[in-house]
Amino acid sequence: MRKKIVAGNWKMNKLVGEATELATAVKRSLADKTDVEVVLCPPFTVLKTVGDIIANTQVKLGAQNMHWEKEGAFTGEVSAGMLRDLFCHYVILGHSERRQFCHETDAVVNRKVKAALTANLTPIVCVGELLEQREANQTEEVVTNQVLKSLAGLDETGFRRTVIAYEPVWAIGTGRTASPAQAQEVHALIRRVLAKMSNPGAAQAVRIQYGGSMKPSNAKELLSQPDIDGGLIGGAALDAAAFVEIVNAAG
Ligand code: 13P
Repeated sequence: MRKKIVAGNWKMNKLVGEATELATAVKRSLADKTDVEVVLCPPFTVLKTVGDIIANTQVKLGAQNMHWEKEGAFTGEVSAGMLRDLFCHYVILGHSERRQFCHETDAVVNRKVKAALTANLTPIVCVGELLEQREANQTEEVVTNQVLKSLAGLDETGFRRTVIAYEPVWAIGTGRTASPAQAQEVHALIRRVLAKMSNPGAAQAVRIQYGGSMKPSNAKELLSQPDIDGGLIGGAALDAAAFVEIVNAAG
């Protein structure tokens, strides 16, 4: 049985005071939640603040990006070791906003995935098609390629540990959610690709989150699909009550 995992991607939101308030409210409701893995992914600037608040609870800390090198002359970048140093357990990699605005390719994402695993961080690897790709019936090809290339060359331990987030780009921040059937279809495809890359047992162990306008009103139905193992939540994660409701819909 795969344990469901719900992560809040705060994106570029929340100053120190706001982050303190949000993390404290989430902690109040979810500190002892053990049947669902709960992760908060705030911006770098408040990782320490949020980490201190959720320390010694069941809620885990994650970052939204990292560089693949260990250290050195990479102005503005943050390494996996630095994230571990702040007690991060997770890191989101290859989010569509980074692919779109920072030109991250699958090859870059693959380097980051390997660096994260080496540093004992669990990568949450985002994949998903653009609207025009879906309309041109390219979803299967696009998502298959992203999975194959982003996860290339992992050993079985790293492979099983990695979390995938299927985020159709047209559903992110648009209020337009994939229907449970549309999402399930792509999640099942991803699992078939994973089975071919490794083996069916390993593919069954990998958790695949759905992301894209997930909210309290649609979470339960999405999360009840056989291959949807959690959610990566953007907008709704900025509101403690909404986020907690989504987590509780997962288990
Ligand atoms: P929204 O939930 O705001 O659509 O964002 C989804 C997302 O991009 C999470 O990473």
